[in-house]
Amino acid sequence: MCGIFGYVGKKVNIERVLIDGLKTLEYRGYDSAGIAFVTDKVEILKTTGKISALENMIDEDLLSNIGIAHTRWATHGNATTINAHPHRSGSVTIIHNGIIENYLELKEMLIKEGYSFVSETDTEIVAALLDYLKSKDIWSNLEVIKEMSSYIKGSYALGIIFDDELDTLYATRKDSPLIIGVGEEENLIASDVAAIINFTKNYFLLNNYDIVKITNNGVDIYNENLEPIRKNINTVYWNVEEAEKNGFPHFMLKEIYEEGKVLKDTINEYVESIDSFINKMPDFSKYDNIHIVACGSAMHAGLIGKHLIENYAGIKVDVEIASEYRYKKEFYNDKTLVILISQSGETADTIASLRKANEDGIDTLGIVNVVGSTIARESKNVLYIRAGVEIAVATTKAYLLQVAMLELINLKLMLERNLITGERLQELLQSLSTVPKLIDEVIAKDKNYIDIAKYIYEDKDLFYIGRGIDYAISLEGSLKLKEISYMHSEAYQAGELKHGTISLIEEGTPVIAIMTDPELSLKTISNIKEVVARGAKVILITTNELDGDYDFIDQKVVLPKVDNYLVPLLTVVPLQLIAYHVADLRKCDIDKPRNLAKSVTVE
Ligand code: F6R
Repeated sequence: MCGIFGYVGKKVNIERVLIDGLKTLEYRGYDSAGIAFVTDKVEILKTTGKISALENMIDEDLLSNIGIAHTRWATHGNATTINAHPHRSGSVTIIHNGIIENYLELKEMLIKEGYSFVSETDTEIVAALLDYLKSKDIWSNLEVIKEMSSYIKGSYALGIIFDDELDTLYATRKDSPLIIGVGEEENLIASDVAAIINFTKNYFLLNNYDIVKITNNGVDIYNENLEPIRKNINTVYWNVEEAEKNGFPHFMLKEIYEEGKVLKDTINEYVESIDSFINKMPDFSKYDNIHIVACGSAMHAGLIGKHLIENYAGIKVDVEIASEYRYKKEFYNDKTLVILISQSGETADTIASLRKANEDGIDTLGIVNVVGSTIARESKNVLYIRAGVEIAVATTKAYLLQVAMLELINLKLMLERNLITGERLQELLQSLSTVPKLIDEVIAKDKNYIDIAKYIYEDKDLFYIGRGIDYAISLEGSLKLKEISYMHSEAYQAGELKHGTISLIEEGTPVIAIMTDPELSLKTISNIKEVVARGAKVILITTNELDGDYDFIDQKVVLPKVDNYLVPLLTVVPLQLIAYHVADLRKCDIDKPRNLAKSVTVE
């Protein structure tokens, strides 16, 4: 979704600084971009399409050290140059991420006050509102921003430059992410840390309605009552190199190749010893039912968690799509734990579901990657996964770690319910510690996945089938393929296909069948034969334990041996790589698929 970047500091080639800042936000998804910077007045450049188009418009020799920049993912109004940010009204220039819900009402009020508008955006209304409040001439710019917040319903992260204070960058937020980077003689605003690490690793977070004022002399922070406040400085824990491709053709491939390492990092953090594991995991003993709430792949990870927790720990788990959950009548009680899963920690629907549970006094637990994000901060308890920065829009390593975290939660639940002894726990944790190496082994068979991709990439439709936990993984395989290769696919419970959808199987239709559960394998084989009989070409993903001489199979992936409960951590890897190679063969924009955004901060 929209990306915000702003700079005040020692570098004087501001247009270059702003363009480079925007490039680090490209991964969030956007369809237009723009910058504004100060010379003796505010200058604005904006355009649709890629940042490279904007880059062609800049003057590298121009001297200035203050500016704001924006990538826009269209919500109110099409992706046009006029709708691109920055927006300017009267003496105010702004960039904005979020949605102003009452913008039509405000627009009407401002039209009556003599304002006119050129764009279809809600952002231009905010620029006009600030200008209107300034015209009252009774407030400082800080007071104008404070007053603005009382007019607006909705969410915003704003970077603001006022014509009467051209050496100052103001920023504020409500319910949209915004961080402040604190460097040496340079300070920044940004939507996320990826945009600041080329300048500094130090940053702080803003609470709703906080306002910052950044000048050459430093950063002043004010709370919603305009009292000066201080903030704790956080440090980004990953390196600049992590946000670079390091020789890989795409971030997605690089991130898949990192899966073994990040799993190891997460295991090392939570499972130094049995005691540290018990201490670091929350106490779940009071809960007798769990709701897992998330969107997209994070929701798919939740489905794996449901299978594990219901089957091994014997606790009922409902998995809900956050955009539905937030408006649904809820059946929780004081023994319910609501788990929110989110890589970014900023997904609007997941945040709304979290707030609903919090308001109802229900315990909440966030499984989050981005440190200090909204879900991490507002959940009663948080478990961080250690994926590092994930740049490709399609999640891979973060999904894997979400599943791993649910594996750990399941083990803790089993221990608390005396379903395993300390000794057995030790064994299971020991097998978990072998998985990073096994993931590397699975990845090393990349040629296998390229061959499969070549076998299917020209097809129109593809079906994934599996039973139980394999169905949950199929959903993720199917989503990965759809989002990055634009090839239509559907995931089905293997036994359900014959209740209608099997009519779509014809000569040559590819079917990826996942079969890792020994208890269900014979049933899955029968289902595979049903599609083979109708002409399907079948790719089987199975474990070495279940591998056989199946003459009805066209291609095969065999996963190494591992404890049953850990298999999902391996199964997903070939699915990610097959999707990647199909997208590559179809020449798709793999890291930035059309219409998608990395972090979905609107409803
Ligand atoms: C798919 C994908 C999305 C996200 C979803 C939730 O590859 O990345 O489906 O999983 O938008 O995002 P987070 O985890 O940031 O809440």
